Amino acid sequence: MVKTNVGVIFGGVSTEHEVSRSSAVHVLKSLDKNRFSFTLFEISKAGELYVYDYSGHDIESICSKLQDINNDLPKKKEVFSTELVSKYSLDVIFPVIHGTGGEDGVLQGLLELFDIPYVGTGVAGSAVAFDKVFTKEILTVRGIRQAAYVVLTSDELRYDITEKIRNAENRLEYPIFVKPANGGSSVGIFKAKNRDELIKSVFKAAKYDRKIILEESIKGRELECAVIGGYTGARALGVGEIIPCNEFYDYAAKYIDEKSKVVVPAQIPPETSSKIMSEAVLAFEALDSHGLARIDFFLGEDGEIYLNEINTMPGFTQISMYPKLWRHAGGSDIDLMSELIDLAIERKSSYKFLKDYTKND
Ligand SMILES: Nc1ncnc2c1ncn2[C@@H]1O[C@H](COP(=O)(O)OP(=O)(O)OP(=O)(O)O)[C@@H](O)[C@H]1O
Ligand SMILES: [Mg+2]
Repeated sequence: MVKTNVGVIFGGVSTEHEVSRSSAVHVLKSLDKNRFSFTLFEISKAGELYVYDYSGHDIESICSKLQDINNDLPKKKEVFSTELVSKYSLDVIFPVIHGTGGEDGVLQGLLELFDIPYVGTGVAGSAVAFDKVFTKEILTVRGIRQAAYVVLTSDELRYDITEKIRNAENRLEYPIFVKPANGGSSVGIFKAKNRDELIKSVFKAAKYDRKIILEESIKGRELECAVIGGYTGARALGVGEIIPCNEFYDYAAKYIDEKSKVVVPAQIPPETSSKIMSEAVLAFEALDSHGLARIDFFLGEDGEIYLNEINTMPGFTQISMYPKLWRHAGGSDIDLMSELIDLAIERKSSYKFLKDYTKND
């Protein structure tokens, strides 16, 4: 059987570079080697592209080396070009890059230009899901409950913002979460307990993005739902709970302190779980997601469900929430990778549209 060659791209310029390496290792270990061969591409923290030569190494050795950013596997610098696709006989790309430059539509745009199928959400869906303001605006129209918010821009910060801060205070109670609209890993996110902290936080958050979102704090539990599927017929796999070891799930609670807990399945009533799963699928469809997404919610002390965000390339390591929920739903790691790759190939063959308007008769 001719194997499908999967170009696995990992690393990237975001704070989640190391997580991406672990996610890629999980993908490689779980690829069905009877169906797929693979070519390994790394994007360095500086944004350079490398292709690995792993000949002579078995999968265990490749994976243990890849985890290490300074590994000694031979790699060659490459340039992003359409020729790459034929040069390495790539059939499909699995971009396992989280955050900026990987999950925000930028890499997806490049892959569209290469005209090759790729795993995960397309350009617009990725960009919109990555932008917390656009996500709010689109999902509000669809009737999905989210925390109340106010938007500021770095342009507005050049002038007196007293009026803007008062306006935010009229609409939101302290503590107020301050976040860059485009970001991840909780970088640049602050929980402001009073006006002084709010103003400082807004200026700090503005170092990461032009748009800053101020959001009411939801007291309650953090729940995450995994969704898989194409543009139609997507299904939710289940709901897990995050129990952060800090006051909120900040960068340290996510990656440094190992005391945060991931509970699968979340210990919540079945009707709450069903409601979250159907809202997750609704949001997945509303944002044109494809392949996979992890959709995060708060279960407020008021009993209401609030959607927090959509991650179109969620943490994908062996111990990440998404694969955990997949396994809990009864699937094997091998089946997960195969289904995601099949979905990517199927999207490319199912959605072909006329490019030449003169031929439409
Ligand atoms: N409105 C809110 N109410 C309560 N807690 C919040 C709120 N917004 C954010 N948090 C806390 O801050 C954490 C990070 O926020 P959020 O998930 O929006 O940011 P992120 O950096 O995009 O995350 P990710 O790395 O998952 O993409 C949440 O997991 C939660 O602990
Ligand atoms: Mg989050």
